[in-house]
Amino acid sequence: MSDQNVDLLSPVDLGPYRLPNRIVMAPLTRNRAGPGNVPQTMNAEYYAQRASAGLIISEASQISPQGVGYPLTPGIHSDAQVEGWKQVTQAVHDKGGRMFLQLWHVGRISHPSLQPGDALPVAPSAIKPQGDAFTYQGLQPFVTPRALETNEIPGIVADYRLAAENALRAGFDGVEVHAANGYLLDQFLRDGSNHRTDRYGGSLENRARFLLEVLQAVCDVWGSQRVGVRLSPVNPFNDMVDSDPEALFSHVVGQLNPLGLAYLHVVEGAIHSPQASSADFDVHKLRDIFEGLYMANGGYDRQRGMRAIQEGRADLVSFGQLFIANPDLPERFARNASLNTPDETTFYGGDEKGYTDYPFLDASRT
Ligand code: PHB
Repeated sequence: MSDQNVDLLSPVDLGPYRLPNRIVMAPLTRNRAGPGNVPQTMNAEYYAQRASAGLIISEASQISPQGVGYPLTPGIHSDAQVEGWKQVTQAVHDKGGRMFLQLWHVGRISHPSLQPGDALPVAPSAIKPQGDAFTYQGLQPFVTPRALETNEIPGIVADYRLAAENALRAGFDGVEVHAANGYLLDQFLRDGSNHRTDRYGGSLENRARFLLEVLQAVCDVWGSQRVGVRLSPVNPFNDMVDSDPEALFSHVVGQLNPLGLAYLHVVEGAIHSPQASSADFDVHKLRDIFEGLYMANGGYDRQRGMRAIQEGRADLVSFGQLFIANPDLPERFARNASLNTPDETTFYGGDEKGYTDYPFLDASRT
């Protein structure tokens, strides 16, 4: 519904939480965890600086050692990682913020050098993506992954459940299931990467089954009102394609409704890639199918975000690069102030530079 009086700065109830604004910090891979993929003090400072967001969604965090796809991304499967995250959630809560953890398994977007025992990455089908993996030894070509056996799927669902329990122990306020951007759950959804002939492949029902099983397991732990899900229906990143994305994602979103999730988060275009997929499909139709809160993502700025909320095309908007460079983004939007420019050379990996040193409007705050 269109309401000129509601904008990015209006509060909104999301599950049990009253968010002070609709400006969400998007999940952002920054490759700055410590040894053992354990979150460290620098990460707590970074997130706490951004606690004025209506909601922070953590960078994607692997649910198991098998789920790892990049150097120094944090995990949520070991006790040390849970302890590391506790400093982060405590620091965010101390500043009055709310934070969900994003649960991640990269599937085929990994490399044997990142896998336990140099194993092959796993995937719905043994189809090698085009491109290169980011490894500790630099870029290396993707390999042909190993297709998961049907009887291995319950074990991965159990990994998601355990990771969700760990997130609860670590003090998060909720979790987001990452089913976007060409990682494992998205690989099952789209038929370019899923050629299975068992109950997890073929029909739309079958391709959505794994995601729905994961969501059910995670909702069992958290209650569905503290669980969100992220989809990227037309994003070709990570060599993804589907023969009929409108039919697929309309089906998936329809199946989400009975769960009563906290929100649906949609990457509306392409990332790391100049153009959206050639599929001619208006992803905004998904907002009409979904019965809960809709979080829009993808190249929004203040003006486009304001308009999307005012015109009722979104309930929340998540911002990535703008939050990297502007820890006080809600205040800057409120004052219509100028924005710091993100430095792309420090997005992935490194130290405090380009991470915790972007200036606040009010220089007395850090
Ligand atoms: C990335 O590391 O480039 C990346 C990670 C997670 C995403 C998208 C991109 O969902």
